[in-house]
Amino acid sequence: MARAWAEFDQARETEIAPSAQLLADLRTPLPEHGDDVIKGLNDASAVLDASLAQARPRYFAYIGSSGLEVGALADLLAHSYDINLALDAGAASLLEAQAISWLGDFLGYPALTGSFTSGGTVSNLTALAAARERALPGSRAHGLSGVRCAVYCSQEAHYSIKRAAEILGIGREWVRTIPIDAERRMDTIALAECIDADIREGITPIAVIATAGTTLTGAVDPLDDLADVCERTGVWLHVDGAYGLPAAGAPATSDLFIGLARADSVTVDCHKWMFVPKACSAVLVRDPRTLSNVFAHDEAYVPHAGEALNAVDITLEYSRPMRALKLWLAFKVHGAAAFRAAIARNCEQARDLYERAGALDGVAVLTSGPQLSIVPIRRTVPGCPDENAHNAELCTRLQADGRVYVSPATIDGQVWLRPCFTNFRTTSEDVHLLLSLIDSEGADCSHHG
Ligand SMILES: Cc1ncc(COP(=O)(O)O)c(C=O)c1O
Repeated sequence: MARAWAEFDQARETEIAPSAQLLADLRTPLPEHGDDVIKGLNDASAVLDASLAQARPRYFAYIGSSGLEVGALADLLAHSYDINLALDAGAASLLEAQAISWLGDFLGYPALTGSFTSGGTVSNLTALAAARERALPGSRAHGLSGVRCAVYCSQEAHYSIKRAAEILGIGREWVRTIPIDAERRMDTIALAECIDADIREGITPIAVIATAGTTLTGAVDPLDDLADVCERTGVWLHVDGAYGLPAAGAPATSDLFIGLARADSVTVDCHKWMFVPKACSAVLVRDPRTLSNVFAHDEAYVPHAGEALNAVDITLEYSRPMRALKLWLAFKVHGAAAFRAAIARNCEQARDLYERAGALDGVAVLTSGPQLSIVPIRRTVPGCPDENAHNAELCTRLQADGRVYVSPATIDGQVWLRPCFTNFRTTSEDVHLLLSLIDSEGADCSHHG
């Protein structure tokens, strides 16, 4: 582990492909008898070393993570005790509640309760289940029985919202995708018109899902304006901040999140921009009863939902690992200020890249600058007959080169490279190398002639 961590401090020059021996080892049959533990651990490290690790400082693809060291140690400790945070587990339950409260304080969200989940997908599902039960009381028991209901999000919301609508019986086709403005944020007027029209038609609005940091470009929907619409119409406001919400805790970006405290629920993935290892998402709510109304059960073998709620009364899962420990320990060891500074640094890196890229000939950036830490970039080459193919191929070439790792994304029909900075290890030099590689490797498009 120490060797891996030391390696992450500086980017390696290429990705290591699995050796022939390793590939052969990964095809061996079930071992009937055990072998030496040190050999086993060495074999395991060899596999991990030949894998794509998001903790590396030049991993800029999708929305990466950092695998913060103290978080990894917390996981080792937590798994050693193997506590189940379903019913009251003693001090560990208190720690989980404290971690939720610290997280709410960090973000500026007055969370009265919440829980750690396996990811943003499950956190969003959890919040929308609570919203459904508030809008249609008793639907958890009777089903939707043909009631028409809808949820509202921007056209660039994460697809976990559609999945939640599918699973909750709302139906994917009832996800109203609201248009976006020039900065790719949900258009509040269009939202208000859509909700009003649905109410007139007898369709029950379940929730508005604001995205605080879209996966595509990092746009933050106008939370305060959306909260006004929700207040007027009595609709639940959920903020999906799986990626971007930690930036609410950094002074330079906190203004983007004005209105956050008015949301009924929020999602934040601590395994993204709070730097701890997967899986550590959190769903926070202002009113604890909204979760217990949809999740609490009386079963003969489970102490029923009394005054003090059990974790199982407010979540989907029964077997629950102690996900809270890694965030709790990280706050204790590093302090909130270190988190705020690291998030701000990632945003500065994004701004720096945007400005440097915008100043280069043959490199395009979006007309509006990064709100958070995602900077779509596109190589343009005069006379290039197929710039989409060129940029897709440039991305593949950079991945194969191994010095940087970026992923592509399609924005308004165009293929872009979409670097995203969420790693505290990333340096300015790493960012500058990315730009110089895009510039030099993308200069030639002769094979698209
Ligand atoms: C805005 C947003 N919401 C939800 C998710 C889903 O999170 P997870 O992958 O942890 O399930 C993501 C993942 O990237 C995201 O960007």
